[in-house]
Amino acid sequence: MPEELIRQTEQVVREKLRNEPTGHDWWHADRVRSTAVRIAREESADAFVVELAALLHDVEDYKLSGSEEAGPRFASEFLTSIGVAGEDADHVAEIIRNMSFKGARVAPAPLSLEGRCLQDADRLDAIGAIGIARTFAYGGYKQRPIHDPEVPVVAHDSVASYLASQGTTINHFHEKLLLLRERMNTEFGRKLAEARHRYMEEFLEEFAGEWSGER
Ligand code: NI
Repeated sequence: MPEELIRQTEQVVREKLRNEPTGHDWWHADRVRSTAVRIAREESADAFVVELAALLHDVEDYKLSGSEEAGPRFASEFLTSIGVAGEDADHVAEIIRNMSFKGARVAPAPLSLEGRCLQDADRLDAIGAIGIARTFAYGGYKQRPIHDPEVPVVAHDSVASYLASQGTTINHFHEKLLLLRERMNTEFGRKLAEARHRYMEEFLEEFAGEWSGER
């Protein structure tokens, strides 16, 4: 039963991401799952594969585990162990392998329709009010300064430079988050991104105004 497989996947993800401190916690996986399934229905994608991949997409994430293979391997082994068809387990693992953002000038890996739906949902959770909260949580975890007007914004052209970035959290908006609206894969994703993007722009404007003493 697909519902039972989803339930078992929820359980393992909840356990693995329970106290995750960087904004990639269980509730992130849960929100991304809901949005991804909504997008999948709009796009007539395979909602079962999308839901499994959404739940598992940040387990053993390479940003935190340091291994690009750990996440996809865990997903395919776990899904096979609970009886998900090999083809679906492989598809989920491939989506997870190819979907993360690796820098503004790094060419993205090709994704299936299901992967494109999930990537949009993950990006939507990185912008807007929740995106702002998660960005500062992640910056704090990485011990990055909130803002330093003397640190320039960088368009990263390699995965290594993006991951090694010692930039500030405010720069992260310019280096990644404000670029995401233009990178949405689906029509529906783009529509949802619009309001969240505007909200971030307003936040940055207010931040700059307060910083400069104009407000
Ligand atoms: Ni994510």
